[in-house]
Amino acid sequence: MLLAPNMVQTEILEIDPVSPQPQLIAKAASIIRSGGLVAFPTETVYGLGGDATSRQAVSKIFQAKGRPSDNPLIVHVAGRQMLDDVAPEISDKAARLIEQFWPGPLTLVLRRSTMLGPSVSAGLDTVAVRMPSAPIAFALIQAAATPIAAPSANTSGKPSPTSARHVLHDLAGKVDLILDGGDTLIGIESTVIDMTADPPVILRPGWVTAEVISSVIGLVKAADSEAQLRRSPGTRHKHYSPQARVVLIERGSPDFIQRTCKKFLEIGSVGYLGHTPAGINRPEFSEIIVGKMPQDYAASIYSSLRRLDERHPDVIVVEGIAPAGEGEAVMDRLRRAATDIITEDS
Ligand code: TXA
Ligand code: MG
Repeated sequence: MLLAPNMVQTEILEIDPVSPQPQLIAKAASIIRSGGLVAFPTETVYGLGGDATSRQAVSKIFQAKGRPSDNPLIVHVAGRQMLDDVAPEISDKAARLIEQFWPGPLTLVLRRSTMLGPSVSAGLDTVAVRMPSAPIAFALIQAAATPIAAPSANTSGKPSPTSARHVLHDLAGKVDLILDGGDTLIGIESTVIDMTADPPVILRPGWVTAEVISSVIGLVKAADSEAQLRRSPGTRHKHYSPQARVVLIERGSPDFIQRTCKKFLEIGSVGYLGHTPAGINRPEFSEIIVGKMPQDYAASIYSSLRRLDERHPDVIVVEGIAPAGEGEAVMDRLRRAATDIITEDS
C-alpha cells in the first residue's frame, strides 16, 4: 500500500487484557523505545503512548492527535523509581494518595524533573503523573523501562476511545501499533488533582471522587475559578464532541424528553442517548438506552456518542444523570460535549 508522507502502516494486535502475552508486550515496548507510538488500553480509556523522555516522540503525539501544544500530556509510570525520576518531590499528601489509589485512575500534578523535556508539560513547571492498573498498560511501561506520555488516543476534541476500533477510526496511519485489549473497564478519563496547590485542586473530576479523596487527605477544592482552570489548559478546549449538535437535558421528566426529541425531529434527524426511553418510533430517530447508574453511563457514553454520530443525525439529545458521586465526572464530560444544556424548569 502507498502511504502519504508522514503516514505509517498501523498494525493491530489482539492481546489478553488480564494476562497480556509477553511477546506482544515486548514488541510494543520496542516500538516505544525506538521513538514510535503505541495505542494501548488503560482501565479508563485507550491512551496514545510514546517515550515521555523523547522530544520527537512527544511531538509525534501532539501531531497525531492534532492537539494544541499548550495542552500538556499525562506521564504514565510503573513503579516508584520511575515516579521519582519524573517528579522527585512527593509531599505527604501526595504520598498518601499514591498509597491509597495507585495503580488506578487518579492523576497527580507534581513538580516536574528536568529529565522530562518542557514540551510534554506544555512548558509548565509541573507534570501530570499516573500509574495505571490495567495489566496491559502496566506491563508495557515496565517493559519499555521508560515513562510513557499518553493522552487519550482520539483526535483532539472528539470523544475519548474506549475500544481499539475507536482508536483506528481516529488515528489510522498515525500510530505504529494498536494493542486491542477489548473495551476499557471504566470508560471515562482519570481524576486529575493539582498537588502543587494548597489545598489541592481537582482540575478534572473522574472515577475517584472528591469525597473519597478528602477522606484520605482532608480538604480539597474543585477548580472553579478561571485562574485555576488556566493551570489545566485541557479544560479550556472543546472536548468529547461528536459531529452533531449535542443537546444535554440536565433534568427533565419523560414527557419533557419526548417533547424535546419531537421538537428537533421537526427540523431533522435525531439520535437519543438516555436511561428513559423516549417512546418515539420513526426512521429519522435512533435511540440508545443505558442503565442509569454512573458506571453504566461512564462505560458507554463515548461509544454511544460515536455510534449515534455514525448515523449523521442533525442533533443528538442526551439525558443527564444526578451530578453526585461518580455522576459528577459523567456530567462534566457530557457538559463539555454539549452545544446546548437545557432543563425542564428553565
Ligand atoms: O485516564 C486518563 O487520564 C487517560 C489515560 C490514557 O491515562 N489520559 C488522558 O489524557 O485523559 P488527556 O491528555 O486526554 O488528558 C490530560 C488532562 C488534560 O486536561 C490536561 O490539560 C491535564 O490532564 N494536564 C496534563 N498535564 C497537566 C499539568 N502539568 N498541569 C495541569 N493539568 C495537566
Ligand atoms: Mg483527552
